[in-house]
Amino acid sequence: MPQNKSEILAQIEADIISDNICENLAQTAKNLVMGEGSLDARIMFIGEAPGKTEDELGRPFVGAAGKFLDEMLDMIDMKRSDVYITNIVKYRPPNNRDPEPVEKRAFLPYLVRQIEVIQPKVVATLGKHSMNLFLPDMQVSKIHGQPKRIKLHLTNKEQETGNKDNQNTLVILPLYHPAAALYNGAMRSTLLEDFKKIPKILEIINKNN
Ligand code: URA
Repeated sequence: MPQNKSEILAQIEADIISDNICENLAQTAKNLVMGEGSLDARIMFIGEAPGKTEDELGRPFVGAAGKFLDEMLDMIDMKRSDVYITNIVKYRPPNNRDPEPVEKRAFLPYLVRQIEVIQPKVVATLGKHSMNLFLPDMQVSKIHGQPKRIKLHLTNKEQETGNKDNQNTLVILPLYHPAAALYNGAMRSTLLEDFKKIPKILEIINKNN
């Protein structure tokens, strides 16, 4: 039986492989990119899927978009090691195409388990794919930068314990995807402004918990 957070995360990764999740992607990808950062992070960033560099290195957000993410973290005095970074889909889709709905659905239970292990106070979604997992039918252009409290569905714990209270709520902070904002002036400044709100959001949540 896995004990600590890192063992549980290793088990989730092993389950993705043994459950043959998205076999086609697994065959073309070089690495399964699970995620990295602090296992006690108060904020977790969730992107779409690994790109070329991420696939090669087996680490999330280490290409151009990742550099921009690092810069934004630096701007708010945070380091990658203070946060946890992952993607919905853990294998690179060929030619960096968008992840398919069936692929996002296949990885969702594993992502939810990851969230349950890390127990972040805030999940910052990067781009529409990630946001729509938690806030279906919403548009990033309309709600970016606005924290929303949701109930995390599909939790194994809840199913096991019948726990229906508020413990499994989570604050979602919808953000533009750094890759989309990188070369788009207006989107870039919006993302930077939204990012600057993170310390305050964490402070308020800390006070209320
Ligand atoms: N874009 C993503 O959504 N995730 C990565 O890890 C890299 C680029």
